[in-house]
Amino acid sequence: SIGPGAVLPIVNKKIAPDGFLRQTTLAGGTHPGPVIRGQKNAEFTIDVVDLLTDKTLDLATSIHWHGLLQKNSNYEDGATSVTQCPLVPAESFTYDFKALDQAGTFWYHSHFGGQYCDGLRGAFIVEDPNDPQKSLYDVDNDNTIISLSDWYHYLSTSPPAIPAFNSTLINGKGRYVGGPQNAPLAVVSVTKGTRYRFRLISMSCDPSFVFSIDGHQFTVIEVEGTNVQPLLVDSIELFAGQRYSVVFKADQPIGNYWIRALPKVSTRILDFSDHTNVAILRYSGASIADPSADPNVNIPVSQLPLVETNLHPLVATPVPGLPQPGGADININLDVGFTSLPNGFQFSINGFPFEPPTVPVLLQILSGAQKASDLLPAGTVYGLDANKSVEITIPGGATGGPHPMHLHGHAFWVVRGAGNSSYNFVDPIVRDVVSIGNTGDNVTIRFFTDNPGPWFLHCHIDWHLANGFAVVFAEDVPDTSAAFTGSISAAWKNLCPVYNTWAN
Ligand code: C2O
Repeated sequence: SIGPGAVLPIVNKKIAPDGFLRQTTLAGGTHPGPVIRGQKNAEFTIDVVDLLTDKTLDLATSIHWHGLLQKNSNYEDGATSVTQCPLVPAESFTYDFKALDQAGTFWYHSHFGGQYCDGLRGAFIVEDPNDPQKSLYDVDNDNTIISLSDWYHYLSTSPPAIPAFNSTLINGKGRYVGGPQNAPLAVVSVTKGTRYRFRLISMSCDPSFVFSIDGHQFTVIEVEGTNVQPLLVDSIELFAGQRYSVVFKADQPIGNYWIRALPKVSTRILDFSDHTNVAILRYSGASIADPSADPNVNIPVSQLPLVETNLHPLVATPVPGLPQPGGADININLDVGFTSLPNGFQFSINGFPFEPPTVPVLLQILSGAQKASDLLPAGTVYGLDANKSVEITIPGGATGGPHPMHLHGHAFWVVRGAGNSSYNFVDPIVRDVVSIGNTGDNVTIRFFTDNPGPWFLHCHIDWHLANGFAVVFAEDVPDTSAAFTGSISAAWKNLCPVYNTWAN
């Protein structure tokens, strides 16, 4: 792993993670990229260098530190179209931000086009030296990170109308249907009698994954930076962008067990065969062999699935606003629309698709635009005054789904989750990606506007973001320039002229 003060070269490389060789875009030349690891409140200076050369893929880049809230450092958020222009080949940009009061399981990925689907993604772990749940586990190292992702045999720059993935990768390894059956699977090694903190990260571009480990249950202790009351489960559905820490006790007979990640798209379970959704949990002392169970069946019926409503923060924090639906200072309903086009599809929110503006929203603000109605893209920027409670409701089901919604700049209280008709204003989970569920759901979140700057809210299915499924919250516009301080601003301001010259 690398720590604060690291260099992160972005490179093209041909790899065959599932046995199929293709060109990719990677951080540090590996897939997933190097684990970034540091401590709570640490300052991270990460020098991203664009060494991309393959014109069949995107040559520009930008990295988003998913879940790091960028308190008063909106310009380090890495979201192209919103907070910065992309880097161009041979250019470097030093991201500089603090994990202020944050610890837990995060990740980083390209936020330019569909580039993270080509491989530009990795884990970002922030340790808390005073972790209140430390007594529950013995080991938490880079080997106990379990990343789940989809993998495509075509490039993100030329996707078919309705993109479909070819394989599931667990820690960057997998097999595809009809592909070589000797492509290596990921192995997670454990020692009997030891308790591990497994960090589960969905780096998916599309499907959710139902995660389980044959013969074992595990205890959820952290959700996206929020410590939670320990909750015993035997499966977790992770939507794109979601993370969990679980305590795993290696307390079964020494042997090999399947780790399963069953992909689902639009509530359909994709039932692959040929060992396509598995990795191996291997106890030390076990033979170097596959588990004997059938790798190709659906998850053995889960007795204890994770239910989001059952997640409660270890220490509940007051939900902003009054404890009733619509009881925030600002209440916004977002209706999602869908248009089928001859060669694809487009999403809209309250009637407007997000079409990337030529000038990032933050630069529009720094250049003098002060009213949300003056900010582009038209109809998709919502102004939020400072120090207000905000409630966002997003009815599910109108466009299929479930869609995982991710907010930048804030973790939010999920006061009404998918599958719930009731609200929890007392001790709901606080996270940064939530599924909006299906028809009849009205997922409702709350947050408080204490972090100036424009922030994305978007579906984390990358193909949906690319097709308009996003809005921007222009939070506390008057203080946005004031937050833009420090030596970084000159380098940041240079990104757009360089990009525009290069792109033309
Ligand atoms: Cu993980 Cu806007 O993204």
